[in-house]
Amino acid sequence: MSNEDIRPREKLLAADNPKMVGTEDLLAIILGHGTKGKNVFDLSKEVISFLRENMGEEIKVSDLTQFDGIGEAKALQIVSALEIGKRFYKDKTKMQIKKVGNGRLIIGDCMDVMQTMPDNEIILAFTSPPYLDAINYEDQIKKLSGEIKYWERKKVSYEYYRNFLTDRFKELYRIIKPGGHNVVNISPVASDGKRVALPFHFVGWMESIGWVFKEDIIWEKEIARDRRSGVLMQHPYPGYYYPSFVVEYVFVFQKPAEKKEQNNIYYFRTRKERAENKIDLSDYQGEKSKNIWKIRPVAPQENIHPSSFPLELAKRVVEYYSYKGDTVIDIFTGSGQTNLAAELLGRKHIGIDSQEKYIEYAVKRINNQAKQLQLSDNWKS
Ligand SMILES: C[S@@+](CC[C@H](N)C(=O)[O-])C[C@H]1O[C@@H](n2cnc3c(N)ncnc32)[C@H](O)[C@@H]1O
Repeated sequence: MSNEDIRPREKLLAADNPKMVGTEDLLAIILGHGTKGKNVFDLSKEVISFLRENMGEEIKVSDLTQFDGIGEAKALQIVSALEIGKRFYKDKTKMQIKKVGNGRLIIGDCMDVMQTMPDNEIILAFTSPPYLDAINYEDQIKKLSGEIKYWERKKVSYEYYRNFLTDRFKELYRIIKPGGHNVVNISPVASDGKRVALPFHFVGWMESIGWVFKEDIIWEKEIARDRRSGVLMQHPYPGYYYPSFVVEYVFVFQKPAEKKEQNNIYYFRTRKERAENKIDLSDYQGEKSKNIWKIRPVAPQENIHPSSFPLELAKRVVEYYSYKGDTVIDIFTGSGQTNLAAELLGRKHIGIDSQEKYIEYAVKRINNQAKQLQLSDNWKS
């Protein structure tokens, strides 16, 4: 993609200094345009420099009508366009982009970040979203830094949560290439003393967006962290059966595509690409060939993130659904396991998380571990 093809909004976000972005592009952003810069208001150089200089301030209609050729109607149009433009400025300050290896890790709400990305470009998404109100991430971070001793759940209504996820997976749908995949790790969660069937609702939410359900993989953890099964041992009677939790789900969804588009992603690859991406099948016939994957969970002392999934899980998804050089995104990346797996496997990657601390940690891990792990190869599980 040449620089010319990059949308103005993306240019602004990629630039360390927004002032470096060309006037035309800047105007296109201010005026709410998604395509190449075009000064639709046909503004003079003086007006453009006035806008550039005062972008962060409140610009009023009366400020603009002072310039030749700008009547009240035009000034009003510009002022409302500025409101849209300002949002991108706010986003720019909220979002921080860190380049690491073949990827970018971005601090921000994944909704805002995805809105700056072009349509139909990414081949694979792998993520694990927040499980309703199971973890209060802001407070977990405060606890990590010793600011507080305990964190408590922040109550979230199920409707709010459903909208939060569907909005974001809808935006993800837009940026994924037709034929590309969206893989999601999710699990039932306890809330208000009840067990919520989150994964089973989640599949319906995804289908209503247009995602096509493809696989239900069970991630079996082998070790139970809870002691639920002990209830029956204390009360060996009907009605006391509470099995311990040892599984989570990994759902695979696909964005529908014409056969040719799908083939372009997976089947019409060059011989060289196929050779470079040949999957090692030496231990495939054991458990990998079935939809129950037995993978040891991450122990609390191995990762500062309270709910990170294992690198091996991310590695399998990345390896089975993308080629080297493809871009993989994780929109709730936490400690960056997806990014680390993608880096190790020669993919480009984007990771987004709203918590700066997790992104900093992910950057450090990718920088440090990628090299070490590549050397020892012990990450293979
Ligand atoms: C289940 S965790 C992901 C853990 C990750 N898979 C790992 O292995 O470390 C969900 C993450 O979503 C992040 N998050 C919550 N709301 C977000 C938002 N609106 N945009 C981006 N990230 C968000 C949280 O900070 C948390 O790190």
